[in-house]
Amino acid sequence: MMGVDDSTSSASVSGKTVCVTGAGGFIASWIVKQLLQRGYTVKGTVRNPDDPKNAHLKELEGAKERLTLCRAHLLDFHSLKEAIHGCHGVFHTACPVTEHPEQLLGPAVNGTRNVIIAAVEAKVRRVVYTSSIGAVYMDPKRSPDDVMDESYWSDLDFCKNTKNWYCYGKTVAEKAAWELAKEKGVDMVVVNPAVVFGPLLQPTINISTLHILRYLTGSVNTYPNTVQAYVHVKDVALSHILVYETPSASGRYLCAQTVLHRGQLLQILTKLFPEYPIPTKCSDEKNPRAKPYKFSNQKLKDLGLEFTPVMQGICDTVKSFQEKGLDNQKAYLLASKL
Ligand SMILES: NC(=O)c1ccc[n+]([C@@H]2O[C@H](COP(=O)([O-])OP(=O)(O)OC[C@H]3O[C@@H](n4cnc5c(N)ncnc54)[C@H](OP(=O)(O)O)[C@@H]3O)[C@@H](O)[C@H]2O)c1
Repeated sequence: MMGVDDSTSSASVSGKTVCVTGAGGFIASWIVKQLLQRGYTVKGTVRNPDDPKNAHLKELEGAKERLTLCRAHLLDFHSLKEAIHGCHGVFHTACPVTEHPEQLLGPAVNGTRNVIIAAVEAKVRRVVYTSSIGAVYMDPKRSPDDVMDESYWSDLDFCKNTKNWYCYGKTVAEKAAWELAKEKGVDMVVVNPAVVFGPLLQPTINISTLHILRYLTGSVNTYPNTVQAYVHVKDVALSHILVYETPSASGRYLCAQTVLHRGQLLQILTKLFPEYPIPTKCSDEKNPRAKPYKFSNQKLKDLGLEFTPVMQGICDTVKSFQEKGLDNQKAYLLASKL
């Protein structure tokens, strides 16, 4: 623990100034919204404050009075230092969400390093870092009966050999962040979300909501034989704030509500929205159906988080696409270029 405000109770931290990196992104926009609702003053970093894709932030309740957008790039230490200066806490959420290692690794690893060092210099009381379940579950040696919790780490060699660069990058970045936080004596807490869906505040589609959109537009005829854990974006944002505000919060927090086979996800989609051409056929009819893995989200429940049921998350995502006119092939093709 360090910094200007060590009297850590949620009453003493809310209302103070905090920084959210990558504020215009899917998850970060919800963090900013909820922080503003709780009375915080927020400095949000974006790469271009004038880009229309960040305009939604200025419309959030409380934004006019308490939100400043700061131009910052993860690889530009001085821009981050300026944004984090004067803040009591940092929510470090910015990261390219991509499978291209050359685009991911620099910002994920060195960018996170820059954020932590800027946070040290600003003497913030806590850094909340958005990692991923991708830094937790990607390990072929994990037994199907294991109940995965925060002690689990993805296997870097396995990620590399299977060219799963996103999981690789998030794992390397989180490990490096823990090492640096320890070396510098930074109070850091990490949230490891599963695949996130729910309503979009931003005008564009991000990768995890694209995950649902592609099944609505007739772009794919089959679904893969795979399982994935899911969580609602409002729960992810609230998890970040709970781990920030709870003095005793520490370590990692696995943020997942349920695991679904892709076929189950599509069954729910079809039940809720039968008007879309949702695939009914699995691309793999030879192998046994992939089994869901077990996990524990008890650490977040112990902080008071009540997870939103998955059906609600799916419903909210599609309704949000519909409201924004994004539930069509054109939106899908545009977003596929991400
Ligand atoms: N969505 C999920 O399912 C999920 C699950 C687990 C973990 N996560 C993690 O959650 C975080 C946010 O994900 P998201 O889904 O909200 O993604 P997103 O909507 O694509 O947001 C990513 C944000 O990072 C910013 N960013 C990327 N590279 C940057 C750079 N070099 N310098 C400054 N800012 C940069 C982007 O800014 P621009 O707008 O300027 O591009 C954008 O605001 C990421 O760390 C991701 O790994 C996401």
